Amino acid sequence: MDKRSKSTPSSLTDPTGRRISYLRISLTERCNLRCGYCYSPNTSDLSRNEPLTKPELYRLIEAFSHLGIDKIRFTGGEPLLRSDFVEIVEQTTKNFHVPIIGLTTNGVLLKPILPKLIGLGLNRLNISLDSLIQETFQSITGCDSLHTVLDAISMAEQSGAFPFVKVNTVVMKDINSGEINDMARWALQKKIDLRFIEYMPTQNNGWGEERFIPEDEMRQRIELDLIPVNNSGASSGPARTYQVPGYPGRLSFISAVSHKFCRDCNRLRLTSTGQLIGCLFREQKIDLKKLLRMGSSIEDISDFIQNAIAYGQFRKPYDSMVDYRPSMVAVGG
Ligand code: 5AD
Repeated sequence: MDKRSKSTPSSLTDPTGRRISYLRISLTERCNLRCGYCYSPNTSDLSRNEPLTKPELYRLIEAFSHLGIDKIRFTGGEPLLRSDFVEIVEQTTKNFHVPIIGLTTNGVLLKPILPKLIGLGLNRLNISLDSLIQETFQSITGCDSLHTVLDAISMAEQSGAFPFVKVNTVVMKDINSGEINDMARWALQKKIDLRFIEYMPTQNNGWGEERFIPEDEMRQRIELDLIPVNNSGASSGPARTYQVPGYPGRLSFISAVSHKFCRDCNRLRLTSTGQLIGCLFREQKIDLKKLLRMGSSIEDISDFIQNAIAYGQFRKPYDSMVDYRPSMVAVGG
C-alpha cells in the first residue's frame, strides 16, 4: 500500500479535547515581497536564532508523523526562496507517512518548479494574491510581479492536481477592499477557492480599526447569491466556504478577528529556527532545536511534544485575542 494512504489517528490531544493533526512548517523567515500586513523590518527575536539544519528538520517531521500528523504545510517567509525546497518536498513525501502536503507561497517563483512539485506529491496549494490591479499589487507587495503570480495560479488550476487552488487575499479597507466583488467574480469562474482573510493585528504591521473590514461587511459587498458549503470536514480548517450556483469556484472567509475559530483549531506551527508554537497569538514556544542538539531520540522528542500538548497552557484555550502580536514573516503566514 502507498505509505501516504495509511491513516494513524493523531495522538496529540490537548486538555480541551482538540486533536492536532496539522503542522505548518516555516522554512525561512526571508521573503521576496514586502507586504506591510505581514513583513515587518524589525522582526521578533526569532530571527536572531540559527535555523534548523535539514537533517534536524527531517527528524522533526519523522517525530510528528509518528504522532499522527497527517497534514504538513510548508510556509515562510517565502518557502520557495530555499533552493532546496523541491528536495524537502521529495524527502518528506518519500520517507514519511504524511498524506497531505501543502505549500503556501506568494507564487512569484512557483511556475518553473510546479510540475516537479506536483509529481512529487504536493497536493494542496495556497497562493497569496491581494489585488488584480497592477498598481495596487505593487503598492502592497513592493514588487511588479502580478502577472507572474497570475500565470502560476492558472498553471496550478489547469494542472488538476489540487481540489481547489486556494488564493489568499488579506482585505484592507481603502487599499484593496474596493476589489472584493471583482476578485470574487474572477475566482468563481475558475477552480479557485478565494479566501478573503480578515486583516489581523500582528507585529508592527500597521493594523488599525480604520483599515479593518470584518467578514460580515465583506459578504455584504459581494453582489452574489452565496450558498454555504458544508464545512464539517476536517480539511476545511478555519475557513467558512460558499459556492455560487453555476460557477466552479468558491469563496471563503477566514475571520480570526470577528469570528474566532479556536475551538476547531487542529494545528501547530514550527518555525525555521525549530521553535514549536501552539497558538499564533501566544508567545510561548517550545525549543525543539535545543532538544535535538542535546541528542534526544525521535521517541524522546515525540514524548516531549505529546506531553507539551497535554499541558494546558501551551495552546491557547478559547478566549479573546490577546495582546501578543506575532511576526508573521518569522512564524509563518
Ligand atoms: N492578517 C491576515 N493574514 C495574514 N497573513 C500574513 N499576515 C497576515 C495578517 N496580518 C497571511 C495571509 C497571506 C499569508 C502568507 O499569511 O493569508 O496570504
